[in-house]
Amino acid sequence: MALYSEKVMDHFRHPRNVGSIENADGIGEVGNAKCGDIMKMYLKIDDDIVTDVKFETFGCGSAIASSSMATELIKGKPLNEILQLTNKAVTEALDGLPAYKLHCSVLAEEAIQAAVKDYYERKKKPAADAQASAETSK
Ligand code: FES
Repeated sequence: MALYSEKVMDHFRHPRNVGSIENADGIGEVGNAKCGDIMKMYLKIDDDIVTDVKFETFGCGSAIASSSMATELIKGKPLNEILQLTNKAVTEALDGLPAYKLHCSVLAEEAIQAAVKDYYERKKKPAADAQASAETSK
């Protein structure tokens, strides 16, 4: 059996939603101290729904595949649903990862949670420039 599933290879070779979002509503950046890999997630949120998501991952193939799959799993979903997203769900959607690569999928879970946390923190600060557009009509 191949070390990596076809889905992992597909998302590694053709990652979905790569890039950044200008004026993102939430940004989460996490890293793994052991391997040094870094993952950054950008969320565009409208009415508590993730309307767009992009990622930048400076890391291994499994981290890239995990980020790509995670973005596909959360796009169009409500925040309360994506807060439940676990690395296990990402791994399952990829048809598995080798045990020693599971930590790569944890980065995806953590980056998304961090981006949602950032979104909620920004909402508490109405003066934040990026958030001003949400209330321009006032
Ligand atoms: Fe670091 Fe995969 S080896 S995230």
